[in-house]
Parts: sequence; C-alpha cells; structure tokens
Amino acid sequence: LSYSGDYLELLTPELENKLEAIHKGIHSKSSKGADFLGWLDWPSTLSQDFLDDIKETANRIRSNSDVLVVIGIGGSYLGSKAVIEALSTPFQQSKDIEVIFAGHLVSGEYLKQLMTYLDDKEVTINVISKSGTTSEPAIAFRFLQQYMEKRYGDQAAKRIIVTTDEEKGALRTLAVNKGYQRYVVPDSIGGRYSVLTAVGLLPIAAAGFDIDQLINGAKIAEQEFGKFDTKSNRAIQYAVIRKHLYDAGYPVEILATFDEKLKYVQEWWKQLFGESEGKEGKGIFPSSVSYSTDLHSLGQYIQDGKRMLFETFLMVEKTPVDLTVFEAENDGDELNYLSGLTLHEFNAACHEATASAHLQGGVPQVTITMDQLDEQHLGHLLYFYMIACAYSAYLFDINPFNQPGVEGYKTNMFKILNKPGY
Ligand code: PA5
Repeated sequence: LSYSGDYLELLTPELENKLEAIHKGIHSKSSKGADFLGWLDWPSTLSQDFLDDIKETANRIRSNSDVLVVIGIGGSYLGSKAVIEALSTPFQQSKDIEVIFAGHLVSGEYLKQLMTYLDDKEVTINVISKSGTTSEPAIAFRFLQQYMEKRYGDQAAKRIIVTTDEEKGALRTLAVNKGYQRYVVPDSIGGRYSVLTAVGLLPIAAAGFDIDQLINGAKIAEQEFGKFDTKSNRAIQYAVIRKHLYDAGYPVEILATFDEKLKYVQEWWKQLFGESEGKEGKGIFPSSVSYSTDLHSLGQYIQDGKRMLFETFLMVEKTPVDLTVFEAENDGDELNYLSGLTLHEFNAACHEATASAHLQGGVPQVTITMDQLDEQHLGHLLYFYMIACAYSAYLFDINPFNQPGVEGYKTNMFKILNKPGY
C-alpha cells in the first residue's frame, strides 16, 4: 500500500491512542456491534471438515449440472460473484460449469429468459439469504422453485441447496419442509462479511476454484492484520488515510482498476464500505472506475471536476496471459514505437501517467498492489478490506455491522404493496 501524502505524519499520539482502543475493542470483541465480529477469526477457526463438506457438495453439483443458479442479493451474492469473475477466463466464465446469479434484481424478463436458457441444461440452485425473508431473492426463488419442480418432479429437492440462518426465517422453514440440503450463515457474520462462509464458498467451489487457497490467503491476512502496529499494519494505514482525507475535504473515494475482471471486487468493496460506514450523516462515498474505459469518460471529472475525490488504485503486478505489440511492416497505425511492449506494460505506463495527472489535478492517491490474481491473493485482499473497513468505521465512531438505512425503502415498499402488518 502506498499513499501520495506522508502517512507517518498522520499518526499523532491522540490518533495512536484511538487506534489502540479500536484494536482492543475489535480483538476483545467488545466494540460497537461486536456480536457481528464472527468473521474476524473465522479463517483460522473454521474446520477442514467444513471445507471438505463444501467441496463434496460442489463436486456433486459439478458432476450433475451444467448451470448453478445462485439466488441472493447484497452480501449474499457479491462476494462469490467478485471471486468467480476475478478468477475466470474472459468469455468462458468458469471451468465445466456456468454460475448464473438471480434475485439481485427484480425483472420478469430476466427470470423468463433465464428459465428459457436453463431448459436444455442440467440445473442446481443455491438460494442464499441470511434473514430468509428478503423480497428480491424470495421472488426469484418462488419462480425458480416452481420451474425446478416442473422439470425435475420429486428429484427437484435434490437440486436445491439453501444457505440461511440456522434457526429462523421463512427460507429456513421452507427448506426444512421440503428437505433441501442446508448450509448455515453464522449468526455472528453479517451478509457483507460472509464471503468466506458457505455463502461465498459453495458457489466459488462449484465454479471450480480452490477454496482451500482462498481461506489460506485470508488466514495469512488474519495473522498479519491482527497485529497492532500502526506503522506497518496496512489495514490500519488504509483506514487512517481514508479518515484523514475525509476530514481534509475528500468525502468520495474512487476505487480504480485496470482489469475488468476486478469489476465485482469493486462492487463488493462498495457494498462493504458503503453499507458499513455510511451512517449518521457520515462516511466516505465509495465509487469505482475501470480504466482505460473510464479514462475516456469519468476521467474528465476526476481530472478537472469538483475537488472532493480521492482515488485508490487496485493494481495487480503479474498477469498470466499477455500479448506483445509486434512491429508492423508499414506502420500504418503508427504504433511501431510500442513494438516489444506487452499490453500489461502499456497499462503500467497508463497507470503511472493517470496517477501523476490526477495527483496534479488535486486528487490524493492510495495504491494497493497485489502480486497476482489467484485464490490465495484474493482471500488475503478480501480479509484486508473487511478488517480495514472495521477500523475505518470505528474511526468514524460508527457501528460497521448494522444497516438501519436499508430498512427505509423496505418499509415504504411493503406499505405500497399492502404487505400484511405494514
Ligand atoms: O450486508 C448485509 O447484511 C446486506 O447487504 C445483506 O447481505 C442483504 O441485504 C441480503 O440479506 P439477506 O442475506 O438476509 O437476504
């Protein structure tokens, strides 16, 4: 992690004390909302039996299905979508099986087309909702459950897996009554912190990716970011820099990448920080751009518009597949000056150029660099963001683990739709 300003200068004795109190509050599980700190030591405490069980189910899905439909919204889908997209090869989502998401939007057209698309394929459904009562995935599941029962009859129950609360919620009751296989979302882990539980792991494993390595990366991060050292702990650094920039008049953070495969890591990050921190009239607004695409779009605003933005580059050092610009005979496109350069190197130059232009334009910068895009590094990154987010929210004196603001639209919607009791 690097920062365009002087990080050490930010560490006043008062801030050090506050950080120490936050660290103690998190690790003794006594901070605000501490009931939801279950993700903190989850990587180091989950059992190999649990991982093996997930892998066994994933292998069964892979052996009898062409498509896994994952139904969920918010934290119940963004984590697995982020990891699957980041690890997949472009134009060929995953090995052997396709993972399709539903229930994150409400659209008759989407569901109808999806069911038509599924018609000539073998299908498994994983419906995920911690509360078991969220309308959007419940609506999608009502249609897809009926679809599965029409197609598979008695056998439908063997192709539906439910991930929800251990004891409560409509989805849990439904699963028990129908005899669906169930996975539990631990009580102490909220949706946006649940990517490393069955919520994220089952779809990721079914897509063919190595969940042992994902957890391994998170374990390394748990150890690394569990140490209280304000000078070297990068999760603390990131939280401190963000809060400093917010106080200095930069309430909007743009997460910028040079790889479209990271688009859903950006979406997951936006949910994590936005829903954890945006409360009580405070918090940094998380937004994202994908370069070079957005250099020819939002780049203008970032360079030259209202000065309220800071930019965090998420960079990947190595790429497994690349192309080198070759010498063309007549140089008709005038690109021979690039010959010998790989496209990854082109992006590195573009990053350097963009960073210095935006910095000159008054946009402070943070750069987070990961070595490569694989399961271990992603596990490490996801855990880094989760713990950094907790520090960040606590620096704002905010409980990172509730989302009271999300209820507003729901109550209005239920009233408009005449839901009993509203
Ligand atoms: O982070 C959260 O808690 C939310 O974004 C939830 O994940 C989202 O609202 C979906 O909730 P549920 O899993 O209960 O359907």
